[in-house]
Amino acid sequence: MRIDGAVALVTGANRGMGQALAQELVARGARTVYAAARDPERIADERVVPIRLDITDPDEVAEAAKRCADTTLLVNNAGIAYVAPLIGPPSLRRAREQMETNYFGTLSMCRAFAPVLRDNGGGAVVNMLSIVSFFSAPGMGSFCPTKAALWSLTNGLRMELREQGTLVVGVHASFIDTRMSEGIDGPKHPPADVAATILDAVAAGREEVLADEDTREMKAALPRDLELIYPRLESEYHAASG
Ligand SMILES: NC(=O)c1ccc[n+]([C@@H]2O[C@H](COP(=O)([O-])OP(=O)(O)OC[C@H]3O[C@@H](n4cnc5c(N)ncnc54)[C@H](OP(=O)(O)O)[C@@H]3O)[C@@H](O)[C@H]2O)c1
Repeated sequence: MRIDGAVALVTGANRGMGQALAQELVARGARTVYAAARDPERIADERVVPIRLDITDPDEVAEAAKRCADTTLLVNNAGIAYVAPLIGPPSLRRAREQMETNYFGTLSMCRAFAPVLRDNGGGAVVNMLSIVSFFSAPGMGSFCPTKAALWSLTNGLRMELREQGTLVVGVHASFIDTRMSEGIDGPKHPPADVAATILDAVAAGREEVLADEDTREMKAALPRDLELIYPRLESEYHAASG
């Protein structure tokens, strides 16, 4: 789809990847960029239209779909991540919170905006997934399933929306240099570069973005994951935890 002239809505647009995507959309000539944030006062860029949106709040999701009824490109970027294993935390609270935001919040946005996109000619949905859609990273056991579930959702959504002409793009990426990855040492990709890669894919009608070499390698290893992925992760995990 054409980015030039598109009307885009980006969730979690106040910082990190969401902000980079909003800026790249403006730079590529999007007609309107709705920059959605839990606190829209934190959006200072005058080239975008700030809107209040917590994706876990059904009333705010419904209100956004009504107010932004000219949207042709929905970018589901908002997400949360806790560094926490599966076993150990005192309750399921954080595991549920991550699923509530990353999976159910995104599903809620897709459901609210599918008819909007249909009425505007089809358009596109971009879902921000992760390299951990493909495997469970040690120490982040309760986060990774949210992205695996979202990957499945993205594939299901694509089948459901194809007839109405909506392109559904799943974005998988390794570390990106944002607040979410601030505790991580090692190479991280600049958000602006990832945003450009994503919008190139949307413009070209590509349904999947494997944003970097690590992510491409991880997906390629999936058919032999128990042999190629988990033994290495497990030994690194045990070495790190002494
Ligand atoms: N950083 C990485 O290494 C990396 C790698 C692969 C994929 N991703 C994915 O990229 C996306 C963006 O993450 P990021 O790296 O830019 O992280 P970030 O800097 O932590 O930004 C997350 C954004 O999501 C918003 N958000 C969280 N919960 C929300 C809710 N319930 N409703 C609306 N907005 C909400 C945050 O808003 P507040 O400011 O209000 O908290 C913030 O704007 C996420 O889906 C993440 O999983 C990140």
